[in-house]
Amino acid sequence: MAEAPVLVISNRGPISFSFGDDGGLVAKRGGGGLVSSLGPLVRDIGATWMAAAATDADVAAAAEGVIEAEGYKFRSLAIDAGKYQMAYDVVSNATLWFLHHGLFDLSRRPRLDRRWREAWDAYRDVNHAFAQAVIDEAPEGAIVLVQDYHLALVGTWLAQKRRDLRAVHFSHIPFCEPGALRVLPSDVAEELLVGMGSHASCGFHSRRWAANYEACCDEVLGFTPATFVAPLSPHYDDIAARAAEDDCVREQRWVEEVKGDRALIVRVDRIELSKNLLRGFWAFEDLLRTRAEWRGRVIFLALVYPSREGLADYLAYRQEVESVAKVINDRWSTPGWTPIILDTSDNFPRSIAALTRYDVLLVNPVRDGLNLVAKEGPVLNACNGVLVLSREAGAWDELGPVALEVNPFDVSGTADVLATALTMAPGERATHAATLTKLASARVPRHWLDDMLAVAGASHGLPDVAITRSTKGHAGS
Ligand code: G6P
Repeated sequence: MAEAPVLVISNRGPISFSFGDDGGLVAKRGGGGLVSSLGPLVRDIGATWMAAAATDADVAAAAEGVIEAEGYKFRSLAIDAGKYQMAYDVVSNATLWFLHHGLFDLSRRPRLDRRWREAWDAYRDVNHAFAQAVIDEAPEGAIVLVQDYHLALVGTWLAQKRRDLRAVHFSHIPFCEPGALRVLPSDVAEELLVGMGSHASCGFHSRRWAANYEACCDEVLGFTPATFVAPLSPHYDDIAARAAEDDCVREQRWVEEVKGDRALIVRVDRIELSKNLLRGFWAFEDLLRTRAEWRGRVIFLALVYPSREGLADYLAYRQEVESVAKVINDRWSTPGWTPIILDTSDNFPRSIAALTRYDVLLVNPVRDGLNLVAKEGPVLNACNGVLVLSREAGAWDELGPVALEVNPFDVSGTADVLATALTMAPGERATHAATLTKLASARVPRHWLDDMLAVAGASHGLPDVAITRSTKGHAGS
């Protein structure tokens, strides 16, 4: 149990509600990676979790205040639906996510027009609504753990109204370099950095993202706010126990049938531009093209599930993913062998099963805050599988000494690394897998939470960024 009361706030919550037959509220577990990682931790310390109401039933739940369900103390926050959508789609996902992952196609995007400005205002309002709820409801001296880029500005109002609170912000995504930040209008960049810097400290999964954030603050605000680095780890015992359940065991049999006596490359991802699915397929094709001995002898099982389909970019990306897989299959399939098996059905037990059975796990994001799959794979895998990992993933910091490195943009280079992984000698594979498992399980999720609680607990209220800036002299952008 933490000493001070703890409040967690995030865009997505651990519980979502629906209306039962009698019109009453029915609680069920919410989805999303953040929730499955944080959920058990938040329950363990008895924290209250506040998140945006996504459905009509969530809005009805918001009127009930803190609800105890599924082991959580949960507070659903009613936010104007139109504003929420603008903030989530246009700013959080189409702007900040793209900015920090380096995804903008700069000749066309972003288009920071009047509509975008309205969306920025909506983003500010949504952040303000969260801040106001915390201001109204957080007990004196409470620790507030603010999660992710959807809520970068919350600290602004907390620092003005509740200096007693010990609020830290944690980004589960990367942070861009100063050069990339210059895409944003100066006032917006400044508002964003002041918002984050108004928390007692800002946490990241990798020192690289913290350093980028510090460099941006130094350039735009003229000082470097406090940061900390705390990589998250999956709940190994939970996922191992999950892998032993009937549905996962059934799916393991399915994976084994599909695999037969061939080698198996696996990936498990959201259909997400930053995950670099297309270059992964092209690299696999390069392997087939340049190494005839692998034709018919290897299968690429891509378990990828739809995400953020409210955004045209994501819909288009999904179509491209499907069509590239089809082009490659049409070109190389033979009777009895389909090189790529693309499954977009969001089959969780199958994903777990595939992680237990892979020979090679491909994790090649163009940039990734951490990438939990890179850590889950080695711990679940029972085949001495090899991890092929992008050096641009936050998890590279921990797994890089052992994982096979890829530059995610280098397709033929990735093909070469896949070939190296597929031909690794059994003894070397065993050592590789054992060392990876050790590295991947060096930390448990509780370490991440304890790091955050320690930083928050050691802080003495919130900084006054306005004062810090003026005493440093060269503020302004
Ligand atoms: C990343 C973010 C999370 C987010 C998740 C899924 O992991 O760090 O905050 O929940 O992606 O994205 P979504 O937009 O579906 O919540």
